[in-house]
Amino acid sequence: MQFRDPLLETSGNIIGFYEREFFVFSNFSSFQLEWRGRLWQTSEHAYQASHFFETAPELVEKIYNAKSAHDAYKLAKENIDKAPKNWENIKVDIMEEIIRCKLEQNPYIKHKLLQTGHKLIIEDSPYDDFWGWGENRDGRNELGKIWMKIRKELTSKTILITGGAGFIGTNFIYYMLKKYPDYKIVNLDKLTYAGNLKNLELLKNNPNYTFIKGDICDEEIVKTAMTGCDWVVHFAAESHVDRSIMDPDTFIRTNILGTNVLLRIANELGIKRFHHISTDEVFGELGPIGKFTENTTYDPRSPYSSSKAASDHLVRAYFHTFGLPITISNCSNNYGPYQFPEKLIPLFATNLIEGKKVPLYGDGLNIRDWIHVDDHSNAVDTILHNGKIGETYCVGGDSEKTNLEITNLVLEYFEKGEEMIEKVPDRRGHDRRYAIDFSKIKNELGWEPKIKFEDGIKQTLQWYKDNESWWREIKSGDYQKYYEDQYINRKN
Ligand code: NAD
Ligand code: DAU
Repeated sequence: MQFRDPLLETSGNIIGFYEREFFVFSNFSSFQLEWRGRLWQTSEHAYQASHFFETAPELVEKIYNAKSAHDAYKLAKENIDKAPKNWENIKVDIMEEIIRCKLEQNPYIKHKLLQTGHKLIIEDSPYDDFWGWGENRDGRNELGKIWMKIRKELTSKTILITGGAGFIGTNFIYYMLKKYPDYKIVNLDKLTYAGNLKNLELLKNNPNYTFIKGDICDEEIVKTAMTGCDWVVHFAAESHVDRSIMDPDTFIRTNILGTNVLLRIANELGIKRFHHISTDEVFGELGPIGKFTENTTYDPRSPYSSSKAASDHLVRAYFHTFGLPITISNCSNNYGPYQFPEKLIPLFATNLIEGKKVPLYGDGLNIRDWIHVDDHSNAVDTILHNGKIGETYCVGGDSEKTNLEITNLVLEYFEKGEEMIEKVPDRRGHDRRYAIDFSKIKNELGWEPKIKFEDGIKQTLQWYKDNESWWREIKSGDYQKYYEDQYINRKN
């Protein structure tokens, strides 16, 4: 029998490819399948017919000896009256299993399936209400729906996010679940002072989101959280430079030892991608010109940046030594909603709302390159889906500002004057300037920041204005003690 390739009958690449893929796939006959103890070396027609072996034993021999799978199917169809009442459901179950078996035995199709994503639901066929064979054998209908279900399962991912209750992790989880509603997210977070479950309250009824409270240094909990995941995106860290000056040990433990635990277990479990979230601070500081690139030599200068640099090295070591499929991003200063009010922008915004002064370090002329957190999430998403294994990507916002410029913007937004600035002694070892050259991710993966700083900063400041209860709760309790140690008892 001559089959026409449906590719020729459809327009548009996605549809064309999909139907061709389906067509090839559903006619792939040299596979083996075991159904209730019986081994079949034939196509789905005989397999479908095989069901009668259980319900109509007198047909067994006839069907088994049929010349072809198609004949076996015909025999079964002619005897449809002998089928059990729930035959339609059984057909669906059987076909699902067949397709899964075929996928396992045909890596090419599996690969193609993963490449193309799931963009089209097969339409009804005028020919056959279930198999959709019809005269052109352009399989559709129920079979097509099963195919779509499996395609969806295959293309969706389960991602372990570490540190998802912190600032960037929270925003990343919202970003991913909105963009990929079929993905599943497991959030492992210790809930340190910086982790806040309130951030993720909107997800409490989302079946694709799971929270696990735990420390990334705890092997058992990491194993539990990581089992069944395809990817890991590792945000969890002690992240505040000033705290690392007050207490370096916690930074060494979480950022270095914790990362090592994650890497070891990811390697044991065969995780398909380990993406490590790092910082531009690992490169040290810049003079008035030049920008960091992926080739800049590491020169970390605070306990925080040193611990992040060590973790980056460990991540690369697991790639080179053990072949763990890793990617790394080194990003500049993020701003946006849910940032803990110890960092420059949320601290200054909330202080001004509270009627307090804003503590500006040194001469206020240190420069940071600011990026909206959603642009950072978009960069990580791009790297996860299109990045090259083993590679590092620098991510920046193309928005260099002095701290004084930021301070003036915040003062202006809240209609306050310069008298609200309190010059305080400088941060020890304060890096003068950071700036990122993001040409690599732009040229190779087509990513660039989309949110203009002027728009993003207004939207962010408004968020702190609108969400007083969120930050007021944080600023009570332990935060007070930190604030006193950091600013009131400040020693340079
Ligand atoms: P954050 O401090 O707001 O959040 C950190 C999260 O990690 C918190 O939820 C905390 O509870 C969790 N955590 C800390 N120790 C843990 C442990 N031992 N086990 C499990 N969870 C733990 O930090 P952030 O600003 O969202 O930064 C996230 C990541 O991005 C960090 O790795 C940081 O180095 C990196 N980064 C941050 C920026 C920035 O501007 N904020 C820029 C570049 C890179
Ligand atoms: O560059 C990326 C890094 O950005 C991330 O790796 C860190 O996790 C993140 O905390 C951030 O580090 P910074 O030290 O740059 O951020 P911070 O908000 O603490 O400070 C920004 C600048 O503002 C810095 O030059 C110090 C200054 N500053 C900060 C605070 C908290 C002040 O002048 N006064 C302040 O009270």
